[in-house]
Amino acid sequence: MGDGPLNGRPLLHIDALYKEYDNPATLVLDKIGFDLFAEDFLCILGPSGCGKSTLIRCIAGFERYEGTIEIDGKGVTGPGSDRIMVFQEFNQLFPWKTVIKNIMYALKINGIKDREEARGRAELYLEKVGLIDYRDYYPHQLSGGMKQRVAIARAMALKPRIVLMDEPFAALDAMSRNQMQDELLRIKEGEGMTVLFITHNIQEAISLGNRIMVMGRKGNIRESMDNPLKKPITPASEGYSEMWRHLNQMLRDGS
Ligand SMILES: Nc1ncnc2c1ncn2[C@@H]1O[C@H](COP(=O)(O)OP(=O)(O)OP(=O)(O)O)[C@@H](O)[C@H]1O
Ligand SMILES: [Mg+2]
Repeated sequence: MGDGPLNGRPLLHIDALYKEYDNPATLVLDKIGFDLFAEDFLCILGPSGCGKSTLIRCIAGFERYEGTIEIDGKGVTGPGSDRIMVFQEFNQLFPWKTVIKNIMYALKINGIKDREEARGRAELYLEKVGLIDYRDYYPHQLSGGMKQRVAIARAMALKPRIVLMDEPFAALDAMSRNQMQDELLRIKEGEGMTVLFITHNIQEAISLGNRIMVMGRKGNIRESMDNPLKKPITPASEGYSEMWRHLNQMLRDGS
């Protein structure tokens, strides 16, 4: 999707990002900055309440903020189809629309007026997440994991510059979670997607991220590192346990 990582300019540039909620007065993001390059998979870890969702919501354009958030050099002033969010909750789909109609509707409101083109694209991405046979099901006829897959297919069908994911697999059981992680990585590689992914789960961050960022309780960035482990990454991979222990220690320290 778009520029390769080698042209030097970050796809997402954040500088001195500051966010306070008024009611009650809460400082959430304290002048943080980082860059995300095309085809990066950045995982953000941090204790509950440290501001991860606030950060991703600012990037999505859902919150007012002070400081700089730029996509391709252009300041973020509101939501846009260049950034698509996938949430933790399973109920992100319209319950009265079938799986395929959910995706076609998203394409329609984002400018794809040709119905057959929208249908073709929706089918292509349902195929990629293994749900093509469920295209005419309604959301209530699907499991939680299947609903998440539809939300991911919908996000990808829109071909955003960046996919923003806020703990998308947190409500899944461990087995489905591992499976979804594998699928997401496979699709990410195939599509050249750029992903910003929030998680509480250290295993998930190590397995998925080519970069990992740890936030502290004071709305600060404590560490930002490249993940040197070779994919596919499992707990048996060389270097995995050292990295897991290091990240676990940082999360326990808090601050
Ligand atoms: N709309 C709001 N108004 C006021 N305060 C808010 C609002 N949304 C979040 N906060 C506060 O901002 C802080 C950060 O919340 P946020 O949801 O970003 O944390 P988080 O890191 O995503 O936590 P979790 O891991 O539990 O999802 C918390 O102290 C929370 O109470
Ligand atoms: Mg959150």
